[in-house]
Amino acid sequence: MVGFQKSAVVVLVSLIISLSINHSEQIQSSQGQTLIRIQHLLNNPSVLSTWNSSTDFCSLDPTSSVSVVCYQDTITQLHIIGNKGRSLLPRNFSMESFVTTLVSLPTLKVLTLSSLGLWGSLPGKIARLSYLEILNISSNFLYDTIPGELSSLSTLQSLALDDNMFAGELPHWLGSLPVLSVLSLRKNMFNGTLPDSLSNLENLRVLSLSHNYFRGEVPDFSRLTNLQVLDLEDNDFGTEFPQLGNKLVTLILSKNKFRDGLPTEISSYYQLERLDLSNNNFVGPFPLCLLALPSVTYLNVGSNKFTGMLFENQSCSGELKFVDLSFNLLTGHLPKCLHSKKTVISDGNCLETGDDQSQKPVSFCRNEALAVGVIPHMKNREGRSSKAAIIALGVIGGVVGGIALVTLIFLLVRKVSASKEIKKYPTRLILEDASTGYPSKLLQDARYISQTIRLGALGLPAYRSFSLEEIEEATNNFESSAFVGESSQGQMYKGKLKDGSYVAIICLKMKRSYSTQTFMHHIELISKLRHKHLASALGHCFECYLDDSSVSRIFLIFEHVSNGNLRSWVSGHSRQKLNWTQRLAAAIGVAKGMQFLHTGIVPGVYANYLKITDVQLDQNLVAKISSYNLPLLAEITGQVKSS
Ligand SMILES: *[C@@H]1O[C@H](CO)[C@@H](O)[C@H](O)[C@H]1NC(C)=O
Ligand SMILES: *[C@@H]1O[C@H](CO)[C@@H](O)[C@H](O)[C@H]1NC(C)=O
Ligand SMILES: *[C@@H]1O[C@H](CO)[C@@H](O)[C@H](O)[C@H]1NC(C)=O
Ligand SMILES: *[C@@H]1O[C@H](CO)[C@@H](O)[C@H](O)[C@H]1NC(C)=O
Ligand SMILES: *[C@@H]1O[C@H](CO)[C@@H](O)[C@H](O)[C@H]1NC(C)=O
Repeated sequence: MVGFQKSAVVVLVSLIISLSINHSEQIQSSQGQTLIRIQHLLNNPSVLSTWNSSTDFCSLDPTSSVSVVCYQDTITQLHIIGNKGRSLLPRNFSMESFVTTLVSLPTLKVLTLSSLGLWGSLPGKIARLSYLEILNISSNFLYDTIPGELSSLSTLQSLALDDNMFAGELPHWLGSLPVLSVLSLRKNMFNGTLPDSLSNLENLRVLSLSHNYFRGEVPDFSRLTNLQVLDLEDNDFGTEFPQLGNKLVTLILSKNKFRDGLPTEISSYYQLERLDLSNNNFVGPFPLCLLALPSVTYLNVGSNKFTGMLFENQSCSGELKFVDLSFNLLTGHLPKCLHSKKTVISDGNCLETGDDQSQKPVSFCRNEALAVGVIPHMKNREGRSSKAAIIALGVIGGVVGGIALVTLIFLLVRKVSASKEIKKYPTRLILEDASTGYPSKLLQDARYISQTIRLGALGLPAYRSFSLEEIEEATNNFESSAFVGESSQGQMYKGKLKDGSYVAIICLKMKRSYSTQTFMHHIELISKLRHKHLASALGHCFECYLDDSSVSRIFLIFEHVSNGNLRSWVSGHSRQKLNWTQRLAAAIGVAKGMQFLHTGIVPGVYANYLKITDVQLDQNLVAKISSYNLPLLAEITGQVKSS
């Protein structure tokens, strides 16, 4: 009995073992048959010439063009990469029956079918491969739209449809693929605007949409904190520079319609290696900080309308290998640090390179810069119309301010002509100013535009963002002795930076929660407030709430002008008064500062309700309009008052 039982158990066990072996062989052989069928449907491409019905696919050595990966005898990965330039499969090829065959490999997680001549529309039933993580069917002849069934692929991480003939608008559901990290749709015929839902793809690392027919503004990608590659080349995107996180490694915006100036945060793109802004309509100052981004190796801003002056002593990143500045409106000298770089293209500017053939006269750049500058931006995204209204109001305010100023100068001039013995000297000064003032206004404006860029000439450090720690250190943690005063706009502190220089720090407290992006246009404008006759802007700092990272406070850092205001120098009792020459110099300085605010920056700042107490004098009695009193700052906190 015992012996019988034993042998029965042995038989049973061996039966089970042999059954299960047969079963797994069956799976494998049916999957093998599928592969053979795929080979046939693909018209026996040469890369599959070694496949035959007795091939053990799971133990094939992978090559660069073909590999099959199995896990416990089922196929999980299939890569077939045909020869480049492969032509269409014959007419009897059917994408429908090809995909029907393909989905009998239901455990596939990774599928690459590239350069195989596939043609037709992509059947939605490919989504029956419900474990797909990577789908790459690039370089074929697939057309029509992306089938909606793909939206059910909740594990899809990478979708590459490059170099096909897909068309239509991108579907909204793309933004709800939960783990998508690579979306590559280069060289297709997609059109329309990008769905806003793309900004939900928090795992997105690579977004390549180049060579399509997309248009319109790029959705707000500032939440895509993992985005490293954004390639939008050769579409109709624009005009606003996209809102992006600062982890980018590659940013390609070339051949689009981008126009509006670069955001100041671009100086915080520490990981940026490749930046291509070429062939757009960018206007405004060329940010010299781009040359010094720590990781940048490739920088192309060619064929735009960037303005500004380059300096020989500008520093650049040691990594730079390629720089193209050609066909902009740049003046000055090529930075010395570029001389040793591999490739530097600078033709078609107004630089003093010693090679006049390739450069235009400086007057050309100045006039063009002006032409670019005077056209006001038409902002048409939501939330921008209020800004246009503010600018319109500002024009009115500016006219009023201008009249007041002219009156002031007129009165001063009258007083001067009344006191005969010093008549000659100041008259000459006034004439000199007038001769460049109105008749050749264009040149004058252009000169101020280039002055904004000539930061070094002001003896000021470049505009930058400050850390909160720096601000706290400068003000000794906002100690009461650092407190200078309070206006409707916020508190003002006097601070001392590490380098020993004194600064004025304005603290604006936010009443509502906004993201830092909301203020970028203001910050951009503030960063341009740099002029000999302005208390110039040195930088800013955002303090954000931890929970939703909305802005709690903005600190603006300005040059500290400490020698009293103009009123106390003209009519005060306590100190020595200015003589007439000094008064005139101050009035002319104020006029120059005003003119800079109106015409030297784009868009101009007009609504400065100038009071004599808002004009500060520095150690050398140079008059500076205190730009930290500009209503621009009130605009940030949302308390705009009518004049
Ligand atoms: C398509 O036609 C060719 C002959 O022109 C034939 O060799 C091939 O087997 C056919 N393919 C299919 C999938 O029917
Ligand atoms: C299948 O291919 C292998 C080499 O890959 C070859 O050795 C074998 O003879 C082929 N079998 C048939 C039936 O053609
Ligand atoms: C898709 O496959 C092709 C061919 O192997 C490859 O060159 C390309 O990089 C792949 N695309 C992506 C996005 O992985
Ligand atoms: C986008 O392309 C599709 C198909 O090519 C076309 O029907 C549609 O009108 C296009 N849409 C726009 C906005 O151009
Ligand atoms: C760079 O050169 C300009 C003029 O050539 C000069 O005004 C400026 O101070 C220099 N800047 C530095 C940092 O040396």
